[in-house]
Amino acid sequence: MTTRRAWRMPSAGSLDRLTRVTEELPPPGPGEARVRVEAIGLNFADVFACLGLYSATPRGAFIPGLECAGVVEALGPPRAGDDSAGTAIVAPGDRVMVLTRFGGYATALNVDRRYLVLLPAAWTLAEGAAYLVQALTAWYGLVHLGTLARGQVALVHSAAGGVGLRAVAMARAIGATVIGTVGHADKIALLETQGLPRAQVIVRGASGFGVQLDAALAAIGASHFDVVLDALAGPFFLPGLVRLAPEGRHVLYGAADFMPSGARPSWVRLAWQYLRRPRLDPMKLIDKNRSFMGFNLIWLFERADRLPVSASAALALSPEPAHIGARFGFDEVPRALRTLQSGRTTGKVIVEV
Ligand SMILES: NC(=O)c1ccc[n+]([C@@H]2O[C@H](COP(=O)([O-])OP(=O)(O)OC[C@H]3O[C@@H](n4cnc5c(N)ncnc54)[C@H](OP(=O)(O)O)[C@@H]3O)[C@@H](O)[C@H]2O)c1
Repeated sequence: MTTRRAWRMPSAGSLDRLTRVTEELPPPGPGEARVRVEAIGLNFADVFACLGLYSATPRGAFIPGLECAGVVEALGPPRAGDDSAGTAIVAPGDRVMVLTRFGGYATALNVDRRYLVLLPAAWTLAEGAAYLVQALTAWYGLVHLGTLARGQVALVHSAAGGVGLRAVAMARAIGATVIGTVGHADKIALLETQGLPRAQVIVRGASGFGVQLDAALAAIGASHFDVVLDALAGPFFLPGLVRLAPEGRHVLYGAADFMPSGARPSWVRLAWQYLRRPRLDPMKLIDKNRSFMGFNLIWLFERADRLPVSASAALALSPEPAHIGARFGFDEVPRALRTLQSGRTTGKVIVEV
């Protein structure tokens, strides 16, 4: 047994319910490794999960957290009937990035070894905790579904966020041109350091978003987008969709616009937003020769066999460590979540143990 600290939600519904506990962690089971966690990567989905707005959240009590990084401390026995194909080969002492379907907000955890990826040698563990979810998401949306190609134009919403910055880097590595949107002007400077000229960054306005998109397209000598990468799902949805070129792909992978601002959701406001959510007519997709796609990688969590190939592809396309926009201590997890929830962060929010 190992003693660990963790942040537990007795049940989803309010950020105020997060409780710090000290508990015993049993030895790793068959096919598992015990990882001593050094850094935890926060994801927007963690906030939705704590608020009770994420359908993949376990019922009852749970430990939030989809990724972390640390050092392998011990290995459990091999799983019966396992061949090692597709299994990360790790040994005690290895520094690893960890994907976990919840349970990451802890100072140690037992994890299926297939969800470990060895940390690039030059990276810090904080950088490791900042990489996998966002790189896999950007890669899946832009490359696997979006099939973004050299010379094409991509619209990346929330471009200064965790997924957004990675998507900008991947699109540039592909040789595509990016127009990025942000919610606040104070994120522009960061995008300029990532190679996006000011004319290619849009601060989404309360009105006239279509005009903003046309001006940004004109600035790069284009008239349409080939790919839209959208995790907002609000009023900015249709203006992007209708500016897709023939064969263009709109990929929706989140609903940040639905994020409540308080510790618990306002169900009245959410119901109103839901009624006014964007709609599209599938017949028009045929008329205009456009595609619309959606995904949530958590539903692919069982496909551990696909992780090594996807992670290698993401690392090959975008091998630079993530931009860490904010760091918190382990005791500050609730404050870290509220900061992420505010929508004012850039890059990745990290909790260091
Ligand atoms: N489908 C999947 O598999 C998958 C996997 C990972 C992440 N995601 C989604 O991808 C998006 C980005 O995730 P992330 O973890 O990298 O987060 P992030 O982009 O670092 O933060 C979320 C961003 O959403 C924007 N936003 C828009 N409306 C908001 C509102 N009402 N309240 C707060 N923020 C708002 C803010 O940026 P701007 O205001 O600058 O736009 C904010 O910074 C999230 O929506 C997340 O749920 C989906």
